[in-house]
Amino acid sequence: MTESRAIALITGASSGIGAAFARRFANDGYDLILIGRRENLLEKLCKELAEEKGINADYMLIDLGNENELQLAEARIKNNPDLEILVNNAGFGGERGAFHKVAIESHVNMVQVHNIATLKLTHAVIPGLLAKGKGAIINVSSLASFLPSLSVMYSATKVFLNYFSESLDFSLRDKGIKIQALCPGFTITDFHKKMGYGTDHPVYKRKFMTAEKVVEASLKALKRGKVYCVPGFRNKFLVFLARNLPRKLRITVYKKMFSKRKKD
Ligand SMILES: NC(=O)c1ccc[n+]([C@@H]2O[C@H](COP(=O)([O-])OP(=O)(O)OC[C@H]3O[C@@H](n4cnc5c(N)ncnc54)[C@H](OP(=O)(O)O)[C@@H]3O)[C@@H](O)[C@H]2O)c1
Repeated sequence: MTESRAIALITGASSGIGAAFARRFANDGYDLILIGRRENLLEKLCKELAEEKGINADYMLIDLGNENELQLAEARIKNNPDLEILVNNAGFGGERGAFHKVAIESHVNMVQVHNIATLKLTHAVIPGLLAKGKGAIINVSSLASFLPSLSVMYSATKVFLNYFSESLDFSLRDKGIKIQALCPGFTITDFHKKMGYGTDHPVYKRKFMTAEKVVEASLKALKRGKVYCVPGFRNKFLVFLARNLPRKLRITVYKKMFSKRKKD
């Protein structure tokens, strides 16, 4: 790396929303550190952005579900005074199936990637941001955090991210650090493919947003200092319903939705 610029570190940047964040921050002149496991994608993206945008882009091959590898990312953050943005984006939908039928290791791995990695990387970055008196942390949650779902651990781990972000914002806002819980709905990425849904699956009949639109909404909300960002009118409406319908009525609606999904 040569010239020193503000750096954005993005986890899960090899595809989807993370890659869209990488493109957007490169466009805005940030240097990048990208984290993921698929080396070919990360290498290609770094090369493309360095050439097209004239920035420094580096990647780390890290499985955030592995404590030893996670420590390498923490160390990289602590030794980087130019780091200004952290996007805790890495995530996955997990194995399909009833909670008790999915192996416990799989549930624990989701807690590790969605929650433990987020809290450790956030813990590592805050002292540097405080020293600068500015910066931002975006935690990619989900619309699913507002709705109980058949993916029990997915919803539960995303709820953690909401309250984690909201509480951090409470203590860091007046110190110049912005925090956001980004809660997208269905977005076109590798997410559903990795869950084993073929392109003919009924899930694709739902309204999907592009990753670029999600990132655009996130950064707009960040500018306005909003802790929660729910991209898209339709998704905002669903959150409004989830927050305002009486619990009994909500459960009835969910049951209807889920009994339909079971037949998918
Ligand atoms: N797509 C949607 O409909 C949707 C909706 C709401 C929220 N979200 C959230 O958005 C975030 C990004 O997902 P996406 O939709 O963009 O899906 P995606 O295209 O599958 O991207 C997920 C990213 O997370 C990384 N990742 C997953 N497990 C990892 C691990 N153990 N260690 C390191 N990196 C890991 C993947 O990298 P490697 O495969 O290279 O490791 C990939 O870069 C997730 O947190 C997801 O929960 C997605």
